[in-house]
Amino acid sequence: MSRALPLLLCALCACQVFDPMQWQQKYKPYRGTTFFPDGVSMLPPPPGTVPWRGAVQPAVATGLGPDGKFLAVAPVPLTRGLLETGRRKFDQTCAICHGLVGDGESMVAKNMSLRPPPSIHLKRGFPDGYFYQVVTNGFGLMPSYAAELTVEERWAVVAYVRALQLSQSARVEQLPVEQRRRIEEGRRP
Ligand code: HEC
Repeated sequence: MSRALPLLLCALCACQVFDPMQWQQKYKPYRGTTFFPDGVSMLPPPPGTVPWRGAVQPAVATGLGPDGKFLAVAPVPLTRGLLETGRRKFDQTCAICHGLVGDGESMVAKNMSLRPPPSIHLKRGFPDGYFYQVVTNGFGLMPSYAAELTVEERWAVVAYVRALQLSQSARVEQLPVEQRRRIEEGRRP
């Protein structure tokens, strides 16, 4: 054992020293070169290169339409699965501040001395793209959640925010017949 350790260390060091990747010819970032006529080793991407975020369509990645305005409606199909993801992610990521129904009632809100998280129901008239953009870039004191939520999860959260807003503002006539009847029966004395 006492001999094995130095041997192992030597082997590890040798790997570092003789690693061909360490010694091969290459340009380090921002080094100049005489190889290319403009003297720049970091080549700019060829014209027409699609940016990494462009792997999804620009509208999906930014929440903005070609006119630069917020998309009125989310550019992803609204499915039950999307809403379920949205609910899970909202409960995990947003509810600690905005409350489980988004009304701004939470322990964090109660204890926040600066600007408390507002009720998301106050923003009912805002377009879907606006909410996506708030989650992606943050808003005032609220940080961005782009690192926590993928693009799809952000749209899922937006869809669920819409569902929450509807849940707190729907008229009885908007409910499916069955639920409407249950409410109306419940109201009878
Ligand atoms: C750490 C607490 C916190 C978390 C978590 C949080 N927010 Fe916020 N949010 C805030 C605060 C605080 C504000 C008000 C910021 C200000 O006015 O400076 C705010 C503002 C907002 C607004 C209102 C923007 C406006 O126009 O007034 C929306 C919508 C919103 N948050 C949505 C979300 C969503 C969706 C999530 C989850 C992805 C989320 N927030 C997570 C604290 C939080």
